Amino acid sequence: MATRSSAVPNDLEAFWVPFTPNRAFKAAPRLLARSKDMHYETVDGRRVLDGTAGLWCCNAGHNRDPIVQAIQKQAGTLDYSPGFQFSHPQAFELASRIAALAPKGLDHVFFCNSGSEAVDTALKIALAYHNLRGEGTRTRLIGRERGYHGVGFGGISVGGIVNNRKHFGAMLAGVDHLPSTYNREQQAFCKGEPEWGAHLADDLDRIVALHDASTVAAVIVEPMAGSTGVLAPPKGYLQRLRAICDKHGILLIFDEVITAFGRLGHAFAAERYGVVPDMITFAKGINSGTVPMGGVVVKGSVYDAFMKGPPNAIELFHGYTYSAHPLACAAALATLDLYREEDLFARAKKLEPVFADAVMSLKGLPNVLDIRVVGLAAGIDLASIPDKPGGRAYAAMEKAFHDENMIVRVTGDTIALSPPLIVSEAQIGEMVAAVGRVIRAVA
Ligand SMILES: Cc1ncc(COP(=O)(O)O)c(C=O)c1O
Repeated sequence: MATRSSAVPNDLEAFWVPFTPNRAFKAAPRLLARSKDMHYETVDGRRVLDGTAGLWCCNAGHNRDPIVQAIQKQAGTLDYSPGFQFSHPQAFELASRIAALAPKGLDHVFFCNSGSEAVDTALKIALAYHNLRGEGTRTRLIGRERGYHGVGFGGISVGGIVNNRKHFGAMLAGVDHLPSTYNREQQAFCKGEPEWGAHLADDLDRIVALHDASTVAAVIVEPMAGSTGVLAPPKGYLQRLRAICDKHGILLIFDEVITAFGRLGHAFAAERYGVVPDMITFAKGINSGTVPMGGVVVKGSVYDAFMKGPPNAIELFHGYTYSAHPLACAAALATLDLYREEDLFARAKKLEPVFADAVMSLKGLPNVLDIRVVGLAAGIDLASIPDKPGGRAYAAMEKAFHDENMIVRVTGDTIALSPPLIVSEAQIGEMVAAVGRVIRAVA
């Protein structure tokens, strides 16, 4: 056998980079080689501050020793156990730990490998739930404009981002969308949840009146819409959505792929808002981004609806080869320990006002149209360059990386910040100062 690690030259052509302009990237690649705590190191040895917890996932920071050790130990003990018909103890332990963190009543966990799979799993559970209860006419799914629910066909169907939808055909039939909760005129430069907008939940009543409740299975929303620029829910909005779902027997799903595990100062955003959905999707922060994992936390009453029929018959014909993968479970158990030992969710809550004040100080810089901050997440809207939508923020991201040694995330012309929950106050200051310089540079 050859001892070389690669039989072909390591050029940049073969890899089709996701959600990235490949030609621009390959002309000036941003390549990371190592990471530790709040920093990455680039292939050319530059230390880069992580302003985005990877992709909203490395909540405990990078390469934390207890998580690394747990993954190494697990890889040397049980590398894989079949996901169907067999399992392993860590999967059960992890499900119990997640259920204990979730709102009361959400006490069963279905595992998968990503946020997208978690969303499709939740939508399928919703449809099957109604079917099993003799309400098979409930097939309609309702999402929201500006929602992001991953890239599966279910997720893009209920999602509300035009570029993620327009090239992919008819998608799922029978999907409606609530209006986005964002309105700049009413909400600009808001810290936390805006006062205006709870009434937008009432649109659900309109959709139900159009189609009849007997056709509606579930509503899915992100409690805080992260991917389209950090849109916190208006005060009272989620409560109103819950009440309307209850009135019509519709399941409410919170997509907490970004908000779970501390981003908003709680294990789940449902806790912050005092609203208990019927299902919660999670991924990312469950194991601080170390091994692909996602899942759905389900209410006991939903689970119980499936536990009928002969005891040796499969109740839900759904699952993934890598559901509850041993490495992902070991990483998650170590991560949950770390969150608890370092009290990182409370830390995020305590830092929220510091972070909010710091980011709001960017108000008044050239082209800054709005700033939103909630938990340890911020969205900064920049005015678009005429005829070049997204161009200004993209330039800001490039400048941040090359000139300021910092990673920011951009979506359209919005810069998003979502640092690991271990960020220090000094590092928040560093980040905001760098973003300020970058905003001036792209003016
Ligand atoms: C709310 C939400 N749902 C689903 C997803 C999809 O997750 P993944 O990229 O792991 O499939 C994301 C990713 O950012 C997300 O923010």
